[in-house]
Amino acid sequence: MRFLLLLLLLPGLAWAAPDGADPDGRDIVLHGNSNGALPCAACHGANGAGNPATGAPALAGLPAGVITADLANMAKGQGGTPLMQSIAQALSPAEAQAVAAYLSGLPKP
Ligand code: HEC
Repeated sequence: MRFLLLLLLLPGLAWAAPDGADPDGRDIVLHGNSNGALPCAACHGANGAGNPATGAPALAGLPAGVITADLANMAKGQGGTPLMQSIAQALSPAEAQAVAAYLSGLPKP
């Protein structure tokens, strides 16, 4: 099952991780990563629909390039809350792209 999922995601990930270690965007969204990135779903919702209670905007269905650009800016300390900046910093570029590819594939809320 996991293998099938990877196959589905592969076209989007192949260019994202030239080193061959494809990060699992869905896994990072739901569980965070081992580098201290908190699960995006905790604030942005499991389906990426956003959550007024946490102030986290919807990410589902946004173009992947918009999400990666936002994350890259926040990782540089430009825009976002300090917490969101530290989460962006905890993602490798390949992980940020995998997360963006997964979120952009979710239906818009
Ligand atoms: C602790 C809660 C929390 C977690 C966990 C979290 N976010 Fe956020 N995020 C927010 C909040 C609140 C905002 C809106 C304020 C801001 O821009 O910082 C935000 C904003 C963003 C934005 C910018 C949206 C825009 O309109 O510019 C992106 C992209 C984003 N988050 C992606 C992620 C990703 C990807 C993850 C998981 C790796 C994640 N977030 C985890 C709370 C969170």
